[in-house]
Amino acid sequence: MGMHAARWLVVAFAIASASCIDPVRSDAVDALGPEAPGVGTGPTHRPNQPCLTCHGGNGPGSPDFAVGGTVNAVRGSVIPEARVTVLLTDANGSTKTKTSNEAGNFYVETREWSPVYPIRVAILSGNASQEMKTLIGGTGSCASCHYGADNAPDHMPPVFLRSQ
Ligand code: HEC
Ligand code: HEC
Repeated sequence: MGMHAARWLVVAFAIASASCIDPVRSDAVDALGPEAPGVGTGPTHRPNQPCLTCHGGNGPGSPDFAVGGTVNAVRGSVIPEARVTVLLTDANGSTKTKTSNEAGNFYVETREWSPVYPIRVAILSGNASQEMKTLIGGTGSCASCHYGADNAPDHMPPVFLRSQ
């Protein structure tokens, strides 16, 4: 990096911290793009996106969430599965149960639950169920690990109820 570029970065960070804007986080918010046409900000928006990027305490989403995600019908799909029970258990054994809505979304507000990590999660509907065998270490956004409807081997697909 040339001297000029380096100096510019220093200036840019100084401005950013002076105005209390975290440039990395606001890039992460911008990267998620605009709202889908016809879907207002609310319980059914942005399925399969990392909810806490915006509902994690620093805006622009409100209210703040402890956990948020989306349940899909089949592995590798982004077809929402409604009425799935999501059972969360924190490190102290405190539990929270939610039901996915018509977009497959579910969320827990921080004012109703402040889980101690790591969290255990299982999902169930009728005779189908899936349990995450490992524990969720440090983020309440399921989509930070479960993303892309491509079944790519290097990451988990979006959360799904049935394997096929
Ligand atoms: C890119 C940013 C962003 C992401 C990602 C995001 N939201 Fe939002 N959300 C917003 C904004 C902005 C609002 C409107 C806030 C307001 O009106 O003050 C909102 C509002 C909401 C509301 C409405 C609350 C109310 O009382 O009106 C709910 C519920 C919600 N989002 C759920 C979710 C869920 C579930 C996810 C993940 C699947 C998610 N959001 C992901 C930005 C986001
Ligand atoms: C830190 C990364 C990470 C986060 C965050 C995460 N998961 Fe997972 N999840 C994984 C990995 C890795 C696996 C596969 C291994 C396993 O089952 O533990 C998995 C597996 C699963 C499975 C079982 C699927 C299968 O292949 O059998 C379900 C269901 C699941 N996760 C749901 C969720 C839900 C719901 C959330 C959000 C509340 C979530 N996960 C958050 C990494 C994550």
